Amino acid sequence: VCSSDLGEGAAKPPDKRQFQKPVADAVEADINQNVRWRGRRHPYRLAQVKPEGKVDKVGQGENAMAETEVLRRMTIVEGDITRLEVAAIVNAANETLLGGGGVDGAIHAAAGPALLEECRGLGGCPTGEARITRGYALAARHVIHTVGPIWQGGGEGEEALLAGCYRGSLTLARDRDLKAIAFPAISTGVYRFPPARAAEIAVATVAQFLADDRIPEKVIFCCFGEVSADAHRAALSGIG
Ligand code: APR
Repeated sequence: VCSSDLGEGAAKPPDKRQFQKPVADAVEADINQNVRWRGRRHPYRLAQVKPEGKVDKVGQGENAMAETEVLRRMTIVEGDITRLEVAAIVNAANETLLGGGGVDGAIHAAAGPALLEECRGLGGCPTGEARITRGYALAARHVIHTVGPIWQGGGEGEEALLAGCYRGSLTLARDRDLKAIAFPAISTGVYRFPPARAAEIAVATVAQFLADDRIPEKVIFCCFGEVSADAHRAALSGIG
């Protein structure tokens, strides 16, 4: 996919008004659209992660845990995700799941041709969803392929779809008891999602999931460069 494939819409700078919506709306939209947590609305609200200067319980019921514990389980690193030795690395793929450039290209190159063979059998993946394969020659045991939204200005549900990518990937990891998972900054390359906004949604969605689930125990944001890492640090300090 090159920028011309994204159509003239991709050339426009993002409409600033789109950023007035609080991140919680995007995460809320994702819950309403995509997720019924075990038959009930997810009890966790972003607001709970921002207790004014005090450690607070986040999540509800038997899984509630201290906010500091949730933050302790999230780490930001800078580097090449294909080198991380974790249970699963997440791939920012496209709907064909047949490879591409960016992190998708790097993961397929490091995993070897067997990864593409397995992906061929998956029959693609809709935007906002995730699929899991083995990791083959990668240091990671599994690859979770998720398809982020192409940024079109923010009015096409991109934020909820991006939240769905993180939530869907975490759900696959939890359901397979994968203790550590690493994410690239989904959609912030070829798909042109504004990095700062994407990082806020990524961190908020992960924090919300970890508040109610003990697995994965560790989530790594593997950023490819300082701009992306700074965006994630800012997002993390925004909820800490
Ligand atoms: N390790 C970690 N992060 C990486 C790596 C790497 N080896 N290579 C690139 N990245 C980062 C980019 O810098 C960006 O921050 O991953 C983020 C996502 O960028 P892209 O890989 O371009 O993915 P995305 O924006 O989601 O676009 C997906 O691009 O490669 C194609 O097939 C893919 O069509 C799909 C589209």
